Amino acid sequence: MESPALHSAGLLAGKGILVTGGASGIGRAACLAFAREGARVLLSDVNAEGGEQTVAAVRGAGGDASFLRADVSSEPEVEALLAAAVERFGRLDCAFNNAGITGAVGPLHEIELEGFERTLRTNLTSIFLCMKHEIRAMLKQGGGAIVNTSSGAGVVATPTLSCYCASKHAVLGLTKTAAVEHARTGIRVNAICPGSVDTPMLQRYMGNNPGIEKLIRAGQPGGRLGRPEEIAEAAVWLCSDRASFVSGASIFVDAGAISR
Ligand code: NAI
Repeated sequence: MESPALHSAGLLAGKGILVTGGASGIGRAACLAFAREGARVLLSDVNAEGGEQTVAAVRGAGGDASFLRADVSSEPEVEALLAAAVERFGRLDCAFNNAGITGAVGPLHEIELEGFERTLRTNLTSIFLCMKHEIRAMLKQGGGAIVNTSSGAGVVATPTLSCYCASKHAVLGLTKTAAVEHARTGIRVNAICPGSVDTPMLQRYMGNNPGIEKLIRAGQPGGRLGRPEEIAEAAVWLCSDRASFVSGASIFVDAGAISR
């Protein structure tokens, strides 16, 4: 079923938003949704070509976006990214920490330490680094909203994805702790836990692991995969002032998959 065209409600008018992993999938959809709601978007990714394509898509839709390449697992690059965001917007209202990888796949006892560490560095260390520097920027202005992308795998076991699963569980730990630490500083910190969403990441995972697509599709209570745009709408709301009393939450956007 095609989604109806959504019109701007101006939910993020005038806000400056940083999006990581903005070159593809959920991150790209979020850039488009944030811009539709009136935000100025600085998007980042290791994939510069995809990042520029997102910029073109946002601008083509009449929005405001620019791209800066950064590897979110590198502290110097994250620091430089945050400096650029503050320079561009004069402040940082919101951040969507969304970059991630499937990482090492296979039974736990067959995974090399390198694969474990790579997965955690990209999916977890990155969230720590981004939040550290985002919170520093937000404290100077007295508030802000941070949204981290976890996963359904952030709360349940996911056979053959132990490293991914561990990283996404830990993202929720960081999210909740930061939310409580900042309950009185005006900085809200929340997480989105998407179900299976039709993005290049999921397509690659299904393509590389024969048989998994059938299992994933069979496990969808709604009978279909999610669309990146459906995850983006949760990020819009969490970043907006409409969610002013929401912090420390893990929002499942999965058509009930985790509730089965
Ligand atoms: P995607 O692969 O389409 O997009 C992820 C983006 O992150 C890519 O553009 C990639 O280049 C970027 N990235 C990877 N490593 C990076 C690094 N070190 N520094 C900067 N950018 C980096 O994947 P998708 O599906 O849009 O995933 C977005 C987030 O959603 C990820 O955190 C993923 O774990 C999460 N997620 C996805 C689900 C799905 O079914 N697609 C389900 C649950 C969570």
